[in-house]
Amino acid sequence: MTPDQQDVYEPPQNIIDDAWIQDWRAVEAAAAADPQGYWAERASELQWSHPWDKVLDDSEAPFYKWFTGARTNIVSNAIDRHLTTARRNKLALIWVGEDTSKVRTFSYFSLNREVEQMANILKAMGVEKGDVVTIYLPRIPEIFFAMLAAAKIGAVHSVIFAGYSSEALSTRIDDSESKVVITADGSWVNGKVFPLKKIVDEAVRFSPTVENVIVVRNTETPVTMDSVRDHWYHELARLPIAKGHCPTVQVDAEDPLFILYTSGSTGKPKAILHTHGGYQVGTYTTLRYSFDIKEEDRWWCTADPGWITGHSYLVYGPLLNGATVLMAEGNPTYPYPDIWWQLIEHYGVTGFYTAPTAIRTLMRFGDAWVTKHDLSSLRLLGSVGEPINPEAWRWFHHVVGGDRCPIIDTWWQTETGMFQITTVPTMDQKPGSAGRPVFGQQAAVVDEAGDEVPVGTEGFLVLRNPWPAMMRTLFKDPERYRQTYWAKYPGLYLTGDSARQDEDGYFWIIGRTDDVIKVSGHRLGTAEVESALVSHPAVVEAAVIGLPHDVKGNSIHCSVILANGFSPSKELEEELRNHVAETLSPIAKPDGFDFPEKLPKTRSGKIMRRVLRARALGQDEGDLSTLENS
Ligand code: PRX
Repeated sequence: MTPDQQDVYEPPQNIIDDAWIQDWRAVEAAAAADPQGYWAERASELQWSHPWDKVLDDSEAPFYKWFTGARTNIVSNAIDRHLTTARRNKLALIWVGEDTSKVRTFSYFSLNREVEQMANILKAMGVEKGDVVTIYLPRIPEIFFAMLAAAKIGAVHSVIFAGYSSEALSTRIDDSESKVVITADGSWVNGKVFPLKKIVDEAVRFSPTVENVIVVRNTETPVTMDSVRDHWYHELARLPIAKGHCPTVQVDAEDPLFILYTSGSTGKPKAILHTHGGYQVGTYTTLRYSFDIKEEDRWWCTADPGWITGHSYLVYGPLLNGATVLMAEGNPTYPYPDIWWQLIEHYGVTGFYTAPTAIRTLMRFGDAWVTKHDLSSLRLLGSVGEPINPEAWRWFHHVVGGDRCPIIDTWWQTETGMFQITTVPTMDQKPGSAGRPVFGQQAAVVDEAGDEVPVGTEGFLVLRNPWPAMMRTLFKDPERYRQTYWAKYPGLYLTGDSARQDEDGYFWIIGRTDDVIKVSGHRLGTAEVESALVSHPAVVEAAVIGLPHDVKGNSIHCSVILANGFSPSKELEEELRNHVAETLSPIAKPDGFDFPEKLPKTRSGKIMRRVLRARALGQDEGDLSTLENS
């Protein structure tokens, strides 16, 4: 055992007294003995307009199906069922603008009105069940309305993070053959306007399927409107077509709810597909148990809805639990590095879920920014997206949580839809460990051959059991789904992460084992950054690696072969940085560069990233005998 693994934080008594799951060992054992029974019980806490025939159909594994034969709609459970109870007047959403004097609040009743309006408009535009609606919106309430409206009428939403470039946006619109794009004039980013509509204009020039663009007025900046294709949302909302009740379409449990593009090992992003039935059961249950969601809670998940964390634990999970959720438009350091603490204090946030990179960023500004605020409303803290280093964990626990709030570290992926490895509040917490597999799941660490490795040994993290919120396939690419996740070890889900397990059964995530890197919690494929680089005239070839970074977790380092006539300079580095930001996204902006004569490759032409990493870190390059020109 390493010293870190001996560092154990026991849950405080008041947390134990309140928790949904008191005797977690008993629940864990019962779910392990009968996972399907466990999930059926959880599912029966939600509404279905027709019951399921089978909890799990694994006859075509790895294309698993859950709750087959059942009819439902995630919106029936996220909104409609609350409208017949006292919750109809409870706050569903509190939105705070980057300018914090701008606040909008929605009860479940008024959220429903907004969703019906958006849904009516989509229907009037001819959007039907199964059609893909692309959503390119910032963190404003309309992103909730748009996602829920699409789901309500059985359409499939595809949210693209509103920081992607026009090229990235157009590739994704094209791939999904989306007919409608919902966007805004712009978004506020640290006091400046990011021109969303302009980016959409550029993107749809290459996306012939798009017939209608709905534009939400947000920043009030001038935009160009195409008289046929583009429509202001507030003008549509005044039309008769937008008015009136819009029924929630009952769909098959296995009908698609959304696709979400994420980065993989190749340059082509993967469209992860999730469905109504299993996804609602998975996100509802995991949020409820891990974060102990109660009627009086005020839940704040800082993730952007453009990522899976925003889908599962900002939008759907909280609403499925009838909770009050806070969404903030701004960034954690703007205008001052205490804006988040101010919001927690002002709105009485009880559950606060964020990413290690944000914690490390805020930690650097010193404790005084935090301690000047009364954060006594907080009960539970959460972490997601990358391993949290014990130092940041302890700071979060001590300074933000006042030593009272357990930190729920949650390991999962876009693909898994819901937490897979985490704790419930009554379990001991270990700084740096994500915890234990969720009830009903079994995880393992295996070697190259698929055999389980001894306790404490690093290996490939795999999941043994199917789970309700698992992706069903890669949209339009079932073979890539099978190959990527199920081919290496038949019957086991390959996560792409390395990990080790300790004697108590806790998992310690180490990092990715493939060409995916996490930069400030954002998932990027090295191949995507490489193809952005080679689209610049100065670049002939590029190899990208992640290097350890104190705040971001990883930084992006690029080894670039220059074209004839170009030579290395600081100006060129800056130009390449901006080029990647523009062609892919500002989140992918490279940090460091080197300009070698040649890239180290194996004889079969594979780039030896290990050698690049050693060079960039000034370490020994190790065994070079397989190098092409050794
Ligand atoms: O490497 C793991 C890391 O994030 C990857 C999944 O990224 P994405 O699909 O963007 O989803 C992020 C939010 C769920 C994983 O393969 N990761 C996620 N959560 C953790 C983590 N690594 C360590 N600890 C975590 N809690």
